[in-house]
Amino acid sequence: MSSFSPPSAAAAAFLRPSLLQPKKSASQLSAYKSRKPYSPHFARISCKKNSSTSDDGKEPTNNDQTSPTTRRDILVGMGSLYGAVSSLSDPTTALADPIQPPDLSKCGPATVGDDTVACCPPFAGQKIIDFKFPSPGEPMRTRRAAHLVDKAYIEKYEKAICLMMALPDDDPRSFKQQADVHCAYCNGAYDQVGITPSVDLQIHFSWIFFPFHRYYLYFFERILGSLIDDPTFALPFWNWDSPDGMQIPAIFADPDSKLFVPLRNQKHIPGGAYPLLNMNWSKPDDDKALTPEEQWDINRRVMHTQMVSGAKKRTLFFGKPLKAGEVLPGDRSGQGSIERTPHGNIHIWAGDDTQPNHEDMGNFYSAGRDPLFYSHHANVDRMWDLWKTLGPRRTDFTDPDWLDAAFLFYDENCRLVRCRIGDSLDNKKLKTDYNSVAIEWLHSKRIPKKTGTTKAAPSKTSKKKRELTDLSKFPLVLNKAISVAVPRPRKNRSKAEKEEEEEVVVVKGIEIDRSQVIKFDVALNDDDDGAPAGPRDTEFAGSFVNVPHRQKPGASKFKTALTLGITDLLEDLGADGDDTVVVTLVPQAGEPLIGGLNIDYLAD
Ligand code: C2O
Repeated sequence: MSSFSPPSAAAAAFLRPSLLQPKKSASQLSAYKSRKPYSPHFARISCKKNSSTSDDGKEPTNNDQTSPTTRRDILVGMGSLYGAVSSLSDPTTALADPIQPPDLSKCGPATVGDDTVACCPPFAGQKIIDFKFPSPGEPMRTRRAAHLVDKAYIEKYEKAICLMMALPDDDPRSFKQQADVHCAYCNGAYDQVGITPSVDLQIHFSWIFFPFHRYYLYFFERILGSLIDDPTFALPFWNWDSPDGMQIPAIFADPDSKLFVPLRNQKHIPGGAYPLLNMNWSKPDDDKALTPEEQWDINRRVMHTQMVSGAKKRTLFFGKPLKAGEVLPGDRSGQGSIERTPHGNIHIWAGDDTQPNHEDMGNFYSAGRDPLFYSHHANVDRMWDLWKTLGPRRTDFTDPDWLDAAFLFYDENCRLVRCRIGDSLDNKKLKTDYNSVAIEWLHSKRIPKKTGTTKAAPSKTSKKKRELTDLSKFPLVLNKAISVAVPRPRKNRSKAEKEEEEEVVVVKGIEIDRSQVIKFDVALNDDDDGAPAGPRDTEFAGSFVNVPHRQKPGASKFKTALTLGITDLLEDLGADGDDTVVVTLVPQAGEPLIGGLNIDYLAD
């Protein structure tokens, strides 16, 4: 099915635009082709050396001899003792084991469609050093909203990206290598270290999603800054959670700019037929000609659900724990609210759906090739900081299996750095900051359809109950909307109980083909009035979203779960005293297998 090319050609395709023909107008294309590369003479460091000494002759400030050995080494030595100790403090860590950084010497081809693609970083046995915070004297790098930057900034950013693109492909700081970081960590190039039988390393679908991408941007940004000799250089963030940021920022849309790529959904680019970002998007049918006011009215409610009402517990926001050796698939895995929506939807919305793998943004292997990716993720990262300001229990995990999980990145001096999640929690310590912009979704609760205050309000005559599917019918293929009455173990809980534990609906045993766009929506007590609940309506609890990617050849099937917080939703629907809740699953893209449904209570 796939027309994707084998590794060598794929690498060539990266040099664009010869192989993967963009859907562009002829004039745009020729403009694109005639862009002149910058000369690389600004790049002062060569990364060819296979040592931890950079070419300026200085020893790196980090020193892996004196730094604490990886905690993992110690833990392994302690064997079962560690497991016993940690299980006392946290029952979920009985088999304490943080995810380990990958072994670069064992990096293999990643998988795309039916083919493989080479995206391993250059590696010749370099020493690995432990991450150190930037010195307190370093200036802050303040990220600005991409739609608010000035000309001087754009020129600076373009120059930095040009220099990065001009580095040789085997330089770990080169744009090609930076883009491939995402491919390697997301499309099955790495196995988890020390685990037999082998288990893929996948940095989506769990609690390592936010910290991995934070480090990724951190190094990407520092490399750009070093190439233009500007220690204050900061990435722009795509402020998609604001009315003025609801389209692809103009700085990425100029075909003459290095920030432009041709492989984007042509209906969604500025000037396209549907340029307004639809945070609920998964397929062409979702393109609707809305006014900016109408689109914002939806998007602000999506933001409220994903950041506020549906993200009251850590695992709802960050995603579920992933420990070393765990096969990611399984009912215990699961994305956090923002990772699904809008993060996943935006990937799919921005990628070119006429390409075999929805390149660039619409597949994890190619997403990093679009400079837009880094600004998209800067805003995702900003959401992590924001979320922690939204309520008393909104704090980072303290589980050592999260804090000690680690990744490897090359820094601006081509050193290979081991980065623990525990060192990523405070952006200020990383000298990263965000310009403050108005948050216009904080109080944008969804509105119940049944109060008749939304456009989709049912008329009195159309209101009818949905036909119910019995719980015993699962597992089933979700190829049409189904509704299930699901028992609620508790009802009318006190305020304190509700704060203690969030009521959640769990869609279990979701089996998907991970190389496909998959989306389905979950609505509660949504009467069959011909207008299914949408993200503006209280009845709409959220969506499952899969951005196409792949692990090992033949391992495209993948099992996960979806957990949605519904305490506020049930209160707002006046359903808190009910014995059952009617859960409606509406397939939007793809046909996932669904294992079952239940209501549960989540303490963390
Ligand atoms: Cu690693 Cu936006 O995905």
